[in-house]
Amino acid sequence: MRMKFSKPRVGSIIIENKKFLRYLTSKQIEVEVKRIAGKINKDMDGMQVVFLVVLTGAFMFAADLLRRINFQAQVSLVRASSYKGMVTPGKVQIMMCTEEKLENKVVVVIEDIIDTGLTLKSILGKLEALNPGMVKTVALLFKPDSYKMDVEPDYVGFSIPGRFVGGYGLDYKGYGRNLAEIYLLEDA
Ligand code: IMP
Ligand code: MG
Repeated sequence: MRMKFSKPRVGSIIIENKKFLRYLTSKQIEVEVKRIAGKINKDMDGMQVVFLVVLTGAFMFAADLLRRINFQAQVSLVRASSYKGMVTPGKVQIMMCTEEKLENKVVVVIEDIIDTGLTLKSILGKLEALNPGMVKTVALLFKPDSYKMDVEPDYVGFSIPGRFVGGYGLDYKGYGRNLAEIYLLEDA
């Protein structure tokens, strides 16, 4: 059955029976996306750039960011699936869906959110074998409190607390990705 998002009161929403509070509005996101795109346009003009979008969560952020990139570039996709709490906890499966040659190019990995950093680390490991000239990372959201790796992302939109968020590409149990704003799971 097709279900409408129920909105118990202004600024909150129900995703799969859990209450989420509005956290980042479309306007706030737009401002940040514009700022990051401006920096990338300045830093990378004249370089041979391939943007590597990490599916599924980064699709919405990447669509907004990439239409603000004003130089000629290529776009490819990579799929990352983690198996949190399953047979091999902490293991991330990476599937490159790229036809583009990355050798000697500047690869810009676009992530929705960086939590522990394990996904990013796995992607960077996979990329190494393809000999890119340089790898940069962009994340709309970054949870510094849960981050366990040593190298921080190069471009970050919002640093947020270590709590669960949904919307704007990010899902809760597979839902909420199509919301235009970002919501924070209310404390249980
Ligand atoms: P990491 O490997 O721990 O950095 O986690 C990264 C991946 O976990 C992200 O690409 C998301 O798919 C997912 N993730 C982490 N935190 C959240 C969250 O708060 N909401 C939704 N997905 C999240
Ligand atoms: Mg993701």
